[in-house]
Amino acid sequence: MTDHHKPHGAELLKEAQEHMPLGVADSYRYWGQEDTVFVKSVKGCTLTDCDGQEFVDFRLAYGPIILGYRDRRVDEAVIKCITESGTISGFSSELDAQVISLVKSLCPHIEKMRFANSGTEAVIGAVRTARGFTGKNKVVIVEGGFHGLYDEMMWKSDVDNWNPQTQAAPEVIPFGAGIPEASREHIEIVPLNSFEAIDEVFERVGDDIAAIVIEPIMGNCGSISSTKEYMQKLRDVCDQFGALLIMDEVKTGFRVAKGGVAELYGINSDLTTYAKAIGNGYPVAAFGGRADVMNQIRFDKTGVTHGGTYTANLIGLTAAKATLTILKETDALETVNRVGGEIRELLSRVFTKFGIEHRFSGPDAMFGIHFGNEVPQNYRDWKKTDSALYVRFAHNLIKNGVMLEPDSREPWFICEAHKDIDLEWLEKVAVQSMEDAINAD
Ligand SMILES: Cc1ncc(COP(=O)(O)O)c(C=O)c1O
Repeated sequence: MTDHHKPHGAELLKEAQEHMPLGVADSYRYWGQEDTVFVKSVKGCTLTDCDGQEFVDFRLAYGPIILGYRDRRVDEAVIKCITESGTISGFSSELDAQVISLVKSLCPHIEKMRFANSGTEAVIGAVRTARGFTGKNKVVIVEGGFHGLYDEMMWKSDVDNWNPQTQAAPEVIPFGAGIPEASREHIEIVPLNSFEAIDEVFERVGDDIAAIVIEPIMGNCGSISSTKEYMQKLRDVCDQFGALLIMDEVKTGFRVAKGGVAELYGINSDLTTYAKAIGNGYPVAAFGGRADVMNQIRFDKTGVTHGGTYTANLIGLTAAKATLTILKETDALETVNRVGGEIRELLSRVFTKFGIEHRFSGPDAMFGIHFGNEVPQNYRDWKKTDSALYVRFAHNLIKNGVMLEPDSREPWFICEAHKDIDLEWLEKVAVQSMEDAINAD
């Protein structure tokens, strides 16, 4: 990844490997012995590694940062909360309803909500509530979507190793060892934007489908997006069969629009999951939607159980209240979209300069880049793009001070603080990085 010698980083990784598998706290943070990043500090849209190299960051911790790292407005509210109110009590606080009221003012389709501490937990809560409400078992998910690291959602279509010449469809495999075969029993995986596939699955097992869970803009698959017609199809088929539509807005919520994908598409889910941008980097998440569905969460024998020690902790909720208030009352998201658009244009100029066919997918606040002559319509289409060129380009960007995930399945995330970056510098770096990527082929 980097030409720069990283003595301190190498030392820290070596030491960490004495204590943790791979030397990292999350396996996706392991980028190899040479390239694993150890961070010293973050501020605004910049990240400084432990060897002193500074990066403009478009990875933004996989998306939570919507205003900027260490946003003073949010941090001061959190510090005040810690010093004056506390962190948890195991009881309720006025913040619970205040934050939900804010969410409801931005996302009018949300009637009732509960909190969680991570996107994974929010998805678990939403799926359990859907099953409790419908009395059905099966959950339909989309190839390339990601819904967190819990057994049932850790089945995926192996597009990486799919050979379209010899296999009709990619094999469905677990993310790794330790996932019981039984956890697959109720999961159905369909390719995005295929009406045929969704009809087939509902014809086959529609009576037992509790929910479709979908990231309408796949934040874990290059922002490849469902068409509006496809989302309407899912809405219709759910209504027809008495299944629930769950939009996983963990990445898109409070980012792609104040009201998330639901606002962009004008299509309402029954339940929605939120995390990431809701708290500008503080660990807070939520799920909610129709009141009649959410009211299934109750204590009687047919009720759904939900809760947790850290649920609605004051730190997370204070951060959410501050972040959502800013998103609601200022033009922060307009800024994010404007800057994202400018960066897209800049990158497009660079690719055109080198004669590289390219398409963007997703909105300006989290766009994917695909080297090819068609916007991918699903994960299988992504395989037709020149993702190897993207990886080389991305590694060169990182070397030159632009941080991103070196994989075109992860979008570029924009935050309000990106408004201050030097676009001329970025264009120069992008030109150099692409030139080197082409020459290295
Ligand atoms: C769409 C989506 N759902 C769920 C999750 C899981 O969230 P967390 O990592 O906070 O558990 C993610 C994480 O990236 C996500 O992008």
